[in-house]
Order: sequence, then structure tokens, then C-alpha cells
Amino acid sequence: MLHTTEHIKHLKDWPIELIPLRLSSKQNGNFERWYNAYDSLPDLNVTNVLFGDTVTIEGETRDEQSLVDGLKGLLPWRKGPFRFANVLVDTEWRSDLKWSRVMSSKAIRQALEGASVLDVGCGNGYFGWRMLKAGAQSVIGIDPSALFCLQHQCVERYVQDKRNTVLPFKLEELPTTVQFDCVFSMGVIYHRRDPIDHLTRLYDQTSSSGLLILETLIHDQKNSLYPDGRYARMGNVWCVPSESDLFSWIEKAGYKDPTKVDITKTTTQEQRATEWMSFESLANALNPNNPQLTIEGYQAPIRELIIARKE
Ligand SMILES: C[S@@+](CC[C@H](N)C(=O)[O-])C[C@H]1O[C@@H](n2cnc3c(N)ncnc32)[C@H](O)[C@@H]1O
Repeated sequence: MLHTTEHIKHLKDWPIELIPLRLSSKQNGNFERWYNAYDSLPDLNVTNVLFGDTVTIEGETRDEQSLVDGLKGLLPWRKGPFRFANVLVDTEWRSDLKWSRVMSSKAIRQALEGASVLDVGCGNGYFGWRMLKAGAQSVIGIDPSALFCLQHQCVERYVQDKRNTVLPFKLEELPTTVQFDCVFSMGVIYHRRDPIDHLTRLYDQTSSSGLLILETLIHDQKNSLYPDGRYARMGNVWCVPSESDLFSWIEKAGYKDPTKVDITKTTTQEQRATEWMSFESLANALNPNNPQLTIEGYQAPIRELIIARKE
């Protein structure tokens, strides 16, 4: 059992009993290999933890090679960066750049103070550590990927801080018995076939005085883009919304005052292949003769950050 559940007892009616099944070989044929990698991590004499741009576990180990091998057994590492003692996990995404865009909003900084947070599609929980540093009281991240849950466990094993939990659930599986002060959905909505359903479910998880923080690919045109096949090499992008469609969906879901915080074109400095994610990355998804376009001929990725209030 990877998770202790004492600290998540307050998540009334959540399907906690599913965790051992989700994090098992029954659900994913790679699980045993990943678990063995996690289990092989050596002891670290941890002297400090820092939830800065690079989430850092300072300390020493006598067995650095086992540390590298264990962490590399959990490739690909997409969100980060992290540092475990002397080992820098230079992830595909410089997620610190996204986080600095989030932190550019005074409304988000204020909302995070003392907040309970739900981070939907949290990946390996990188942002949860940043949220704690920004003043959040506790963060529950959910992500159906067992690999990302295990990557979080690698950090948790050394950090020993139960305030940032990652659980192997989908948003659609959550009851609405618990509500959160801040509900984040970053990089998820364009993967959903029914974006209004996604927003309605986020709404149901938001407390009455709460804030939605939504980050998404955006189509910088009048109309939303429904890609015919792949978008920037990704096979599971159903819709890249226009801002006007997105704002209207957010309001249809019940939220008030959708407000743009940031719009930024994704660069190959922010998303790139590294030794910790050696598959193709953004550079391979852009038209080599015109980086304003994807290789499929669509607008190259631009991402927007939006906030909206429940009341
Ligand atoms: C593009 S990643 C974004 C990760 C991170 N939030 C970020 O902004 O960098 C999308 C994540 O959403 C997760 N995801 C996909 N469908 C989901 C669902 N129905 N509920 C919760 N998470 C989901 C995926 O497993 C993946 O880790």
C-alpha cells in the first residue's frame, strides 16, 4: 500500500478503496516495473526541502547511482523540475514558467492564502508543492496516471509532507461532498470531449466563495478549433477553444466573471526533450519552415490562464 489514508479521511465518500487497485498491475502492465524502480530508491539523509522553481530535496546519499537508476525507471518525467540531492530531474516542461504566470495574478495569490486546493489533472504533483509555498493549507491532486502518482510518491518519500497528496482518480469519479477554496484545471480541458461537463464538475467541487483557475490551449481566432486528427502531434485534443467560446462555457457552468490572467505562446525553452523525457517534444510538433504553425498546419500552441468566481 503506497498511500496511508488517515490524512484524507475528510474526503467523505471519495472512492479511497479504489486506490490499491488503481496503483496495481491489474490496471497497468507497467506497474510492477515502476513500483520496483520506486522501491529501489536509496535512503537520503534529507537536510532541507525547498518548494522553489526547482522542487529541491537537499541531502546526501551513499548510493547516487541507485537514485539515478530508480528515478530513471519512472521515465518519462514531464512536469518539474525536481532535484533529489545532486540529481537534477530536468523534466520535459519547465513547469516553473507556467507557475510564474499563475503567480502573476494577485487574485490567485490572495485566494491561495490558507486555501484548500483541488488540482485536477495534477500530473506528478509538482504544482502542489508550489501551491503550498504560495500559502495553500492543503492540496489534493487527482490524476488517473499511475506513473505520475508513483513519481509523486518518489518526492513524498523524502519530503514526508502530507499536505500535498496525489490520488489516482478522474474528476468524473469524485462525489460532490467536499468543496475546495481553489480548484485548478491546467492542461486538461482540451483533452475532454465535453468541455462544459468538465467545467460543471469543476464548479461542483468549488466552495461558494471559491475560485476556478483554468489553464488551456487557446485558439487565438473567432472560432474554436476542432482538430481533424492530431494537434501538435497529440492524438487526444478534441477542441482548442476560442476565448469567447471558453468564457461562455465557463459562465454556462455557473461561474461568474471569467477573467484572462495571461496568454503566452509555448516556446521550445518551456517544452523540450531532455534526458528525462527523450521522446519527441514541441520542436518536433512545429512546421520546420514556419514555427507559427503545427506540423498539421494549425496555429502553434498558445496557452491562456483564466480565473472565475463561484459567487
Ligand atoms: C497535459 S497534462 C497537464 C498536467 C498539469 N496540470 C500541467 O498543467 O502541466 C493533463 C493531465 O490530465 C490528466 N487527466 C486526463 N483526464 C483526466 C480526468 N478526467 N480527470 C483528471 N485528470 C485527467 C492526465 O493524466 C494528465 O496528467
